[in-house]
Order: sequence, then structure tokens, then C-alpha cells
Amino acid sequence: MRLFFALWPPRETAAELHAWARDAQRSTGGRVTRADTIHLTLAFLGEVDEASVPGLKGLSVKAERHSLPMEQARYWPHNRIVWAGPLETPGPLGALAVALASELKAKGFRTESRSFKSHVTLIRKAREPGELLPLPPVNWPVEEFVLVRSRLSAAGPRYEVIERVALSRTRPRDAGSDTAPGS
Ligand code: 2AM
Repeated sequence: MRLFFALWPPRETAAELHAWARDAQRSTGGRVTRADTIHLTLAFLGEVDEASVPGLKGLSVKAERHSLPMEQARYWPHNRIVWAGPLETPGPLGALAVALASELKAKGFRTESRSFKSHVTLIRKAREPGELLPLPPVNWPVEEFVLVRSRLSAAGPRYEVIERVALSRTRPRDAGSDTAPGS
């Protein structure tokens, strides 16, 4: 089974990112990520034996809920993707990625060694754009992370969430943030 851990955006967040990508595609060509498959990869496991899956469930990763602002859209020539992400990885997200990687290592799983770069792939096989359209302000409240099975097919990847891990509530630093219930 091809597996990875990811953050999955609320439907509204995904719709906003997808709408932006549809517009941006005019200057890049390529394939826009379907709204229901938009995600941010936390740890990529690759092919994993089915017998190992129970070991991936019930992880004791402790991390806080947080907000993930989509503040920039960029093009990477090395893999020809257009992605969106925060200007800097929020502290709780970096801590989550580190905690998850170390828990996986402790359980004997191998994850990609490439360093964590918080990005959300929105267009693949893109041409280098002169300038990308500015991203509208997009709010992504992060309240859980998920273990996902990826099935590749000619019609594109299909993703199936096989485990959800809730993040702990943070003490609100500012009134009015992070109050939405989980989906
Ligand atoms: P990408 O969006 O940057 O391509 C499912 O394939 C997810 O895992 C995608 O989000 C993809 O990131 C990521 N992924 C695929 N291959 C990977 C690899 N070898 N190392 C890290 N992440 C990978």
C-alpha cells in the first residue's frame, strides 16, 4: 500500500485554493489538483506492507491545533509544480512534522529523508509562469492530521483516509480564532 500522512483542508479552504489554481492555470498550463485531493504532505511512507498498517494507527503524536495561512504561491522548476504555502512553517506545524517523523522512526518506519517543506501542490506539469496571480487570503484551520492511502490510476490519484488523529486544543492566544468545530 502506498501511504502518507497529511493535513487535509476543510472543504471551503480546498475550494478557494482550487478556484485560484484554475485561474493561475491560464499562465502555467498543466493539471490542476482536484479540490477533493488538495492536501499538505507531512510524511511520505511510500509502499508499506499491509501487515504494518496497524502500527501506523493510534500514534501518540502530541501536537497543537493551529492555523495554517496560505501566504504565497510559487513555482518549482525541479518538479514543475505550482504550490501554495505559508511564508514560514508555523511553529506547531513544524513541531508536528518533527514529532511524527520521530514517532515513525521509533516504530521502525522509513520516511523520506528530504526535509519538510510545507507546500500544497496545486498545479502539476506546469510551465514556468512570468508572474503568478496573487493568492487571496485563505484560512486553513488545522485540527487533525490523517493517514492516507494513495491509489494511482490513469484518471489520477485516488486518496482514501484510513485514520484520523485529532490535535489538542490550544489556549486561544487571540479571541475569535480556531473556534470552528472539526468536520
Ligand atoms: P507533492 O505534492 O510535492 O508531489 C502523495 O503522493 C503525496 O506525497 C504528495 O503530496 C506528494 O508531494 C508526496 N510525495 C510523493 N512522493 C514523495 C516523496 N518521494 N517524498 C516526499 N513526498 C512525496
